[in-house]
Amino acid sequence: MHDVGLATANLLAQATAMGIVTHPMGGFDRKKVADLLNLSKEYNPVAVIAVGYPGDAEKLSKASKEREKAARVRKELGEISFEID
Ligand SMILES: Cc1cc2nc3c(=O)[nH]c(=O)nc-3n(C[C@H](O)[C@H](O)[C@H](O)COP(=O)(O)O)c2cc1C
Repeated sequence: MHDVGLATANLLAQATAMGIVTHPMGGFDRKKVADLLNLSKEYNPVAVIAVGYPGDAEKLSKASKEREKAARVRKELGEISFEID
């Protein structure tokens, strides 16, 4: 899990630097993905990442366009980490 997280973070950073958009997903049907990709039992799908070039936001549905154009919100550092005295 640690390795996948680290690899994902690097992939996202590199893609962004190259003007490529990504959509990482942790919520997906693991069995369906394993079946679809014909994965052997030793592989456990952890994340799915859609990767592509940005399209024209004007062509999106109203809801998707609003979401796409909305300001990005990030969690405060204190929400995802803590200090030990
Ligand atoms: C660990 C993680 C898991 C995610 N899982 C999903 C998911 O299952 N389905 C989904 O639609 N978005 C999921 N997202 C969010 C999207 O990938 C999101 O669009 C992406 O983080 C880009 O966000 P931004 O446009 O605010 O930069 C997940 C994001 C992260 C970081």
